[in-house]
Amino acid sequence: MLARVFSCAVVGLDGLVVEVEIDAISGLPGVDIVGLPGKAINESRQRVQTAIKNSGLPFPRRRVVVNLAPAALRKEGPAYDLPIAVGMLVHQGVLPLHALDDAVLIGELSLEGSLRHTRGILPAAAAARAAGFRRIFVPAADAREAALIPDLEVYPLETLRDLYDFLTGARQLQPVPATRMEAASPPPVLTDFADIRGQEHVKRALEVAAAGGHNLLMIGPPGAGKTLLARALPGILPQMTLEEALDVTRVYSVADQLPADVPLVRARPFRAPHHTISHAGLVGGGNVPHPGEISLAHHGVLFLDELPEFSTRVLEVLRQPMEDKVVTISRAQGTLTFPANFMLVAAMNPCPCGYYGDPVRACTCSMSAVTRYQKRISGPLLDRIDIHIEVPRVAYEKLTGLQPGEPSAQVRQRVEQARARQRQRFAGIAGVHANADMRPAHIRQFCALDSAGETLMKAAMQQLQLSARAYHRVLKLARTIADLAGSPQIESVHLAEALQYRPKDLLA
Ligand SMILES: Nc1ncnc2c1ncn2[C@@H]1O[C@H](COP(=O)(O)OP(=O)(O)O)[C@@H](O)[C@H]1O
Ligand SMILES: [Mg+2]
Repeated sequence: MLARVFSCAVVGLDGLVVEVEIDAISGLPGVDIVGLPGKAINESRQRVQTAIKNSGLPFPRRRVVVNLAPAALRKEGPAYDLPIAVGMLVHQGVLPLHALDDAVLIGELSLEGSLRHTRGILPAAAAARAAGFRRIFVPAADAREAALIPDLEVYPLETLRDLYDFLTGARQLQPVPATRMEAASPPPVLTDFADIRGQEHVKRALEVAAAGGHNLLMIGPPGAGKTLLARALPGILPQMTLEEALDVTRVYSVADQLPADVPLVRARPFRAPHHTISHAGLVGGGNVPHPGEISLAHHGVLFLDELPEFSTRVLEVLRQPMEDKVVTISRAQGTLTFPANFMLVAAMNPCPCGYYGDPVRACTCSMSAVTRYQKRISGPLLDRIDIHIEVPRVAYEKLTGLQPGEPSAQVRQRVEQARARQRQRFAGIAGVHANADMRPAHIRQFCALDSAGETLMKAAMQQLQLSARAYHRVLKLARTIADLAGSPQIESVHLAEALQYRPKDLLA
């Protein structure tokens, strides 16, 4: 008798329904798995056999073949344990033949027959729903994640036996309630602007960056507070929309980075990979392709501290995703893409010793060493950073003497208002959510200057020798600064502030 149950594969961030067929063939007792199984799936033979036995259920005494369809899709990971085990029980007539025709089954089995947390449940549940399935059976640990998908009954399983008992009527099993998704209170602020003394111009730059989604680079000596300031950024970022939260959760689910008690990621990601990170760790990849740090930073911040310490190869690969907001990973079975719409925040010392240009401490680097250090960051990468800001050292006496600054929550309100203006402006324009995303045509449409502004811009272009790219950068920033001020028109003051954030030639 041919038995058939349904499961789900995850390709990139998308789920795809997979059929699991079981049939008997002639030969010695045992299990063959066909249909492009990956290595982990072949291991599932032993797990399934032991789990069935330890659940007090019978294992086929003949040779059976497990076919995973579609065959062209490579099947990876342990998520097929449960459907294979259940398929074998159906095949033997232990479970009724058509009881699971409306259900998708996912989950890794332990040897004793319990269900382990399995990655990628959210995209799988979404695919199951989209394919018209009514029910999904998942490890209990992952049920709240699956229950983010509406109109799908999510059955939590502690063990394989739970499912058997449920289908044979020996016990009840209730679907979990839909996971609540209404707006939560903003996540706690870990590093508050109020606790950072002085550095008002840097805080302002961070506010502008947050308001318009602009990339930002901080340059300054060690101990100036660059890392501290960067870590305060999440506290002023606008709250994620529900749609953004679901996007981010999908990435974390597939990357297997979703905290156990968090079915929905609410806080904007802040990722700070170490400069020794590998290429695959940063952009994603691997045998079973996982999202990398740039995708884990989707809708949030990618913080590259000590920027010149990153290998030039790693920095080069950032260019394409910064342009396209997605990263493409090529592999034997073709390419796949992960989202990577992040805000880049970078920090660096001005030179190897860190004190080039410091008013107090002398720099010990040779001129050529300073040049080489700064040249490590390529022009094309710098070109994609709208805000360049110097972070000078604050004297200790000044630090302790200064009043506490404005709290992050207050700054965030201005950022939210500026974002709301941008949402209105860009409604219906695909791929443009914030001022930083504007392309030249949008800049022409939304960043018109008045005659005073035109005069100022013309003078700046000549005196500062701004390139066309720099010109666009300044206009986008000026738009954000005007939005923060609640001004429909870009005024000269906004433009003047925007000009402050251009890259300075530190060696000049
Ligand atoms: N403006 C500031 N207000 C409060 N603490 C500060 C300030 N600047 C630096 N610090 C403290 O000094 C230390 C060094 O700051 P850090 O951010 O690591 O500097 P950098 O990254 O520029 O080398 C941190 O422990 C930080 O808490
Ligand atoms: Mg630092």
